[in-house]
Amino acid sequence: MAERAEVVFVDGVRTPFGRAGEKGQYWNTRADDLIVKAMIGLIERNPNLPTDRVDDVGIAATTQTGDQGLTLGRTAAILAGLPLSVPGYALDRMCAGAMTTVSTIGAAIGYGAYDIGIAGGVEHMGRHPMGFGADVNPRFIAEKLVDPAALAMGATAENLHDRFPALTKERADRFGMRSQQKVAAAYAAGKIQPDLIPVAIASDAGWGLATQDEGMRPETTMEGLATLKTPFRSHGRVSAGNSSPLTDGAAVSLLASETVAKELNLGVKMRMVSFAFAGVEPEVMGLGPVPSTEKALRKAGLSITDVGLFELNEAFSVQVLSFLDHFGLDDDDPRVNPWGGAIAIGHPLASSGVRLMIQLAREFEERPDVRYGLTAMCVGLGQGGTIIWENPHFAGKGGK
Ligand SMILES: CC(C)(COP(=O)(O)OP(=O)(O)OC[C@H]1O[C@@H](n2cnc3c(N)ncnc32)[C@H](O)[C@@H]1OP(=O)(O)O)[C@@H](O)C(=O)NCCC(=O)NCCS
Repeated sequence: MAERAEVVFVDGVRTPFGRAGEKGQYWNTRADDLIVKAMIGLIERNPNLPTDRVDDVGIAATTQTGDQGLTLGRTAAILAGLPLSVPGYALDRMCAGAMTTVSTIGAAIGYGAYDIGIAGGVEHMGRHPMGFGADVNPRFIAEKLVDPAALAMGATAENLHDRFPALTKERADRFGMRSQQKVAAAYAAGKIQPDLIPVAIASDAGWGLATQDEGMRPETTMEGLATLKTPFRSHGRVSAGNSSPLTDGAAVSLLASETVAKELNLGVKMRMVSFAFAGVEPEVMGLGPVPSTEKALRKAGLSITDVGLFELNEAFSVQVLSFLDHFGLDDDDPRVNPWGGAIAIGHPLASSGVRLMIQLAREFEERPDVRYGLTAMCVGLGQGGTIIWENPHFAGKGGK
């Protein structure tokens, strides 16, 4: 019988995120090179890691063809220089890809099958536009298994505005603007940069280095946002200013059993407490994190008031706001995305789950008064994912 273990997040890094498309910094960069670069960065800054002790490498991507195909976990492990004895796999749960590689590798560690694992994800949305090449079964629409709007994420966000009239465009825009401001402040304070692995990039101008997230718009104003088009519905409420942009990027984490992490002196940034995934009606996809969070809290024996920090993926403002309203949190609650989120940083689908964890881990270091934190995100076709983490730096009872 394998010995059960506590699961810890040892470390996580990511590439700077790029704007998808021809003008973006990664247009000439392969998707697999992004995740390989991140993995090399992770290994280099954890010199105590005996790479032959890595039991598995799980790398997610939503589109698994071309330079995101061929079992990314295995190919990326070889390209990153891990010993050939280390196996790897690829996985897809759309936006929660990396969150799911963390939960599956974490579960294997918790069960005692693995000691150490690498989990992450990549999405080059410029080279692999959302849904491109997918052959959606006609039964979905013909048999009305899902609402036609369910297949366009922006349309599901418009549906949330319809369902909850209290979620106004004004609130969504303000949340988007605040995300931009919080990310700008976090950058100015040097909080984001330490976990970015610079990537060499080629353009018509020659070689360069990507060192920061490219999609940020710190100059955003409410007046500017009010003028933007609403591409998912005429006279709608969802715009480029209150949505996450199309993004290229990769993120990767090192997980281990707490005993092995201590034995090898690897360091512990977070302890996994519980995780859950859940489904909702696909046409209101953004509500997914509500039941997944309720489930994860239940499994952990915690309530929402026990959570001192939230890293919520901002696929769309309205989607985060629906979560906040459900749990009775204010739009500008300081516990929520204190360093901003995906609206400003970007959301390269299958990598974002680990981006949330990287950010939460850094926040934990600064907040020994906080015991529990939560990472959560919505997922295409009506799902949500949540992982609850404990702060190893927590310095006393009674804090949150
Ligand atoms: C919303 C969306 C369609 C916009 O795409 P886009 O039109 O290519 O976006 P752009 O960055 O070109 O922005 C559109 C315009 O808004 C402007 N804009 C964007 N954000 C702005 C801001 N914060 N303040 C002011 N202007 C802004 C841009 O400058 C651009 O103006 P222009 O047309 O004059 O050049 C796209 O980002 C999208 O699909 N997002 C959702 C992604 C998604 O579904 N992810 C999965 C979630 S589950």
